[in-house]
Amino acid sequence: MRRSVVAIAIATGLGLAGAGSGFSDEMDWGPYEVGDLRSGYTFATAATRAIQDDDFDNPAFLWVDYGEELWTAVEGEAGKACASCHQDASDTMANVGATYPVFYEPWGKLMNAEQRINQCRTENMKAKAWKWESRELLSMTAYVKSQARGKPIDVTIDGKAAPFYEKGKAFYYERRGQLDMACKNCHEDNAGNMIRANLLSQGQSNGFPTYRLKWQGVGSLHRRFRGCNKQVRAEPFGYGSDEYVNLELFLAHRGQGLPVETPAVRN
Ligand code: HEC
Ligand code: HEC
Repeated sequence: MRRSVVAIAIATGLGLAGAGSGFSDEMDWGPYEVGDLRSGYTFATAATRAIQDDDFDNPAFLWVDYGEELWTAVEGEAGKACASCHQDASDTMANVGATYPVFYEPWGKLMNAEQRINQCRTENMKAKAWKWESRELLSMTAYVKSQARGKPIDVTIDGKAAPFYEKGKAFYYERRGQLDMACKNCHEDNAGNMIRANLLSQGQSNGFPTYRLKWQGVGSLHRRFRGCNKQVRAEPFGYGSDEYVNLELFLAHRGQGLPVETPAVRN
């Protein structure tokens, strides 16, 4: 027999508690609320939201601007820049942020935006892949995905993507770690409740890469997954692992219709 999640959390010192936090259902959240879906923006503090509201205040734009610089930088043995083949990113990259991960035929599995970028570097530029969480890869991913800002998430989960979506979904509902908790236990059962000093959100992925005040920098969605896995004292999976890319597709679809917010700002 399983104890309730809240009982487990209290017993283990996670300290889940009911809201009383300034979280308000009365607010009109505009584009950040679509049906029952609510962006992490609607759970962030007013001060944090204000930073995201102003692109000049939003420190994530230092990464986006660097991504824009890299876009035209020639690198690798092929003597090309991203712009040599893709020209104007606002045109050619307009949908990536809303539609990835996708099924990638040559791999026979999913590919996310970071992997697509690195695939172009190694295959098309004959340049070295950028490391996960490097300033370069975060900046380029933020730059590419931000071209879709405001567009509703619209991923494909049928056809060849279907089995990978199912794996991602299973991962989401699977309990893990010493605390024996699934993603669902925090982000579905307890969205709007406090966990220690944090207000739990629905755990939506539409703002990544995201600037986190706690990180004092931009981080990828996979970094966030690793953090959430560690919170329940589970072994995190690797950056770019199949487990996380499948989970990424499930999460995107779970938030289908929310606007791309990259680069978001969160506590
Ligand atoms: C013990 C509770 C807990 C569990 C379990 C948990 N998370 Fe989280 N998660 C948090 C907290 C706390 C935050 C930061 C506040 C917030 O946005 O909820 C967070 C944030 C997130 C965010 C960022 C949301 C945003 O708007 O930036 C995503 C995405 C996320 N979690 C996904 C997951 C996934 C996927 C799993 C399962 C692998 C998971 N979480 C499991 C506690 C949890
Ligand atoms: C030599 C030409 C070339 C260069 C240089 C190149 N790419 Fe590509 N890129 C392609 C081709 C061709 C495709 C489509 C491949 C396919 O259909 O599988 C593509 C696809 C993409 C996609 C997916 C677009 C979509 O709508 O699905 C992204 C993202 C991307 N490239 C990013 C980059 C970035 C970032 C760089 C620079 C670091 C870069 N590419 C450099 C040729 C190039």
